[in-house]
Amino acid sequence: LSDHARSWLEVARILDGGDVNGIICREELPTPALLLDLDAFEFNVQKMMSHVCEHNKTLRPHGKAHKSPEIAKYLITAGAVGACVAKLSEAEVFAEHGVGGLLVTTPVIGKYKIERALSLAKIQPDTILCVDNAQNVLDFSDAAVTRRLFLNLAIDLWIGRRTGVEPGAPSLALAQLIDSSPNVRFAGIQAYAGHASQVVGWEERRKTSRESMRQALDTKQLIEKNGMNVPLLTGGSTGTYDIDSQIEGMTELQPGSFIFMDVAYRRIGGKDGPVYQDFRNALSVLTTVISKPSRDIAVVDAGFKAFSTDQPVTPESKSAEGVVYRWAGDEHGILDLSQASQPLNVGSTVEFVIPHCDPTVNLYDRIFCLRGDTVEQVWSVAARGKCQ
Ligand SMILES: Cc1ncc(COP(=O)(O)O)c(C=O)c1O
Repeated sequence: LSDHARSWLEVARILDGGDVNGIICREELPTPALLLDLDAFEFNVQKMMSHVCEHNKTLRPHGKAHKSPEIAKYLITAGAVGACVAKLSEAEVFAEHGVGGLLVTTPVIGKYKIERALSLAKIQPDTILCVDNAQNVLDFSDAAVTRRLFLNLAIDLWIGRRTGVEPGAPSLALAQLIDSSPNVRFAGIQAYAGHASQVVGWEERRKTSRESMRQALDTKQLIEKNGMNVPLLTGGSTGTYDIDSQIEGMTELQPGSFIFMDVAYRRIGGKDGPVYQDFRNALSVLTTVISKPSRDIAVVDAGFKAFSTDQPVTPESKSAEGVVYRWAGDEHGILDLSQASQPLNVGSTVEFVIPHCDPTVNLYDRIFCLRGDTVEQVWSVAARGKCQ
């Protein structure tokens, strides 16, 4: 373990300098801190990678979960074909850091954003953009002709109750429009069934995903029957990866949360029981007890600004058994210690599994990556706040 005798200025210098390997330990980090257990993270990446390879699919993990170019590059080195991104601004950050194989999963609308999408495609020409309406295709095509560039467009299918063109004839018409428009290429289909990802119970989840993906497969066939090649059928999530990987016509999976996991995902249940544990909890938030008003109550320095609050679940203690967390405002959490397995005092640290990974990561500038108790790397959440 590292030497606690050093000053904060020295700790800050080491953390900012990036050369942290084995020098700084968990207890020295300023809390609340976002931690990544590298052993668990590597296990998760390996498991997903082996799974997709066995099932003859490609993997383009969703970068909206981590927003970190270092993680996107790690995944590509592990075998991913690129990274999905939710928004153009996320894509711009990834592209600037040399991440290729980008798929922007949300429609890009408006003149300025189309200009930006073209600049992005100039840096990373294999970028794929999703479209779900004819005017958007025409706008992309016109802008691409003007800039003398080419764009790859995938049609976004309405199977997930979010965005997309209706399956069947409307999708065929859109694919044909792309095919016949100058300077745009038809890349395939995105079919993301978001409503299936957290259906409780594996069998029920399978049913929901299968019903949605059936429409995607039928649409793919329809387009092929009309003489067009559909190179890509991408979709899927952490909750349905082992369901969608069984679908023959699907070419690619785009799960995101599996690298980290969270409380919400664990509750959906797995194939083998009521807790979904195909992937390990790799992400946590380290907190400090800053007040202890009574024997059974402690207050930690992490509230709404340290954890996501969009799910009906609370942070779960990872380091101290029996501790129950309750929201106590922007900066505070109250711990019920009545069932705690160990005493906690002012200054003690407590680590929590987070409620929902994507919005929690978006609250932090960096992720401290630990091997055991020492910080091995510090990764930047460079696309934090990039929601444009
Ligand atoms: C379009 C799209 N694909 C894939 C994912 C990944 O899902 P998950 O993080 O549940 O694996 C998301 C997440 O919201 C998404 O919006």
